Amino acid sequence: MTLRHFLRDDDLTPAEQREVLGLAMAFREDRHLRQPLSGPRAAAFITDKPTLRTQVSFATGIAELGGFPMIVDGNLAQIGKRESIADTTRVLTSMVSAIIWRTFGDDRIEEMARVSTVPVVNALTDGFHPCQILADLLTIAQHRGGVNALPGQVLTYVGDGANNMAASYLLGGATAGLHVRIAAPSTYQPDLVIVEKAAAIAATTGGSVLVSDNPAVAVAGADVVATDTWVSMGDEAQAAEREKPFIPFRLDADLLAHAKPDAIVLHCLPAYRGKEITADVIDGPQSVVFDEAENRLHAQKALLTWVLEQR
Ligand code: NVA
Repeated sequence: MTLRHFLRDDDLTPAEQREVLGLAMAFREDRHLRQPLSGPRAAAFITDKPTLRTQVSFATGIAELGGFPMIVDGNLAQIGKRESIADTTRVLTSMVSAIIWRTFGDDRIEEMARVSTVPVVNALTDGFHPCQILADLLTIAQHRGGVNALPGQVLTYVGDGANNMAASYLLGGATAGLHVRIAAPSTYQPDLVIVEKAAAIAATTGGSVLVSDNPAVAVAGADVVATDTWVSMGDEAQAAEREKPFIPFRLDADLLAHAKPDAIVLHCLPAYRGKEITADVIDGPQSVVFDEAENRLHAQKALLTWVLEQR
């Protein structure tokens, strides 16, 4: 048995990701299917950034798994400032069975994982949002006939190619065998190291990776079209300068018309209508964003169950 963390999408192999998604499908059918935290055992959810879906889905999920959700406000805990990451981790691991952390730099959660004796799960960092991508893959599976239907789907993400969602779509999508296309302004393209890692994974799963600065070309024929805010948490000071370069990447009805007629639309939320996505698209018939939000619950319960079972 090994201690497993989930800090990035590629921490799960393709077979492991399939297993987690299969379990998530089962949790969709029966919310009380498994109780790996019965006792109750506590799992800590710590957040250094704003949150709604992530806190609610983890807290609900931990309770439904038979456990106790220990919510820790990062502003009070001041991890790395009031107390070192290592000391905080040692204290937490003496009491909780898993730690779920939303924070800024990936170096912070990596340091926690190095010290922790319980699974550490990334609930969003500056670099990645892997739990969201599990929920997105589950949503595609839900609308396309199951987990086995994932390989070969074309997923196009338009918007900030340099943010956590783009990186996670690349790694998590490639792991699932998707054809992942990222359309972003030339100054907001994904990190080449991530693109190359995703391409290497895709070579083993039958997927592919494409990065473009042409949204219409990238969306052409897509099965799934996704976007995200142009101003991620932590980027607020750049809000004004970020507005203009992204305007051609707004997901509106004209851009969506390049995708397959039955393409589904994803957005991790919160959405800014009239900015990265128009109201008619996010509130329209192709949008599955609220299924996607609900799937956070099922996907994360499956992930927690899986990591707890590896021990
Ligand atoms: N890229 C966004 C995702 C929000 C759920 C952010 O990091 O703020």
